[in-house]
Amino acid sequence: MTRRFLFLLGSSRPDGNTELLARRAAEQLPADVEQRWIDLAEHPLPEFEDLRHDSDHRRPAEGNAGLLLGATLAATDLVIASPLYWYSLSAPVKRYLDHWSGWLRTPGLEFKATLSGRTLWGVTALAHEEQEVADPLIGSLNNSAAYMGMRFGGVLLGNGSRPGDVLKDTEALKRAKTFFAEEAPLARFPYERTGAAAPTP
Ligand SMILES: Cc1cc2nc3c(=O)[nH]c(=O)nc-3n(C[C@H](O)[C@H](O)[C@H](O)COP(=O)(O)O)c2cc1C
Repeated sequence: MTRRFLFLLGSSRPDGNTELLARRAAEQLPADVEQRWIDLAEHPLPEFEDLRHDSDHRRPAEGNAGLLLGATLAATDLVIASPLYWYSLSAPVKRYLDHWSGWLRTPGLEFKATLSGRTLWGVTALAHEEQEVADPLIGSLNNSAAYMGMRFGGVLLGNGSRPGDVLKDTEALKRAKTFFAEEAPLARFPYERTGAAAPTP
């Protein structure tokens, strides 16, 4: 099956370190792998409205929600390229994930069944030298993948503050070369041993 990578860019500035690092990793993908890049700043989602327990659920067909939903459903591999903001995901990425909670409840979408078995990856740039400060972002993506029954390829981390700084992080550039070639195991919650069901977020 042809793999289709969707790169979602979540920075609040263009041409930032996160995108530079994601592009370095993407350069290594084989030519027959499709790549689609969507910048969430250019396609902002509306504020998420929690209608999960109302009956009127409709598939968003138009606008940025329709575009992002369609792109998400079509991707075999979803790459969240979010800078580290306050030790976690950027607001545009967080809002996109919040919309998943609506799409999960939309009749006829089969959102969870479609994403199940597909792969979630992360790329992030951070100013801090000590990478463990990004653990909340990594945990957020890992647990989201586990909830969805997805595979999780981990997070490619790069250091930088000003745009372009990450190109001086030689370790990150080295990891970028093999990042997408690595095995992505089925995601598990940290507590999981037996695959117990989780409550709906
Ligand atoms: C709103 C905001 C919050 C940030 N929070 C953190 C943080 O918690 N930890 C950190 O190491 N760097 C933090 N930074 C620095 C960015 O992660 C860093 O500049 C990164 O290179 C930005 O990625 P970009 O170039 O792709 O936009 C923050 C920057 C902004 C604008």
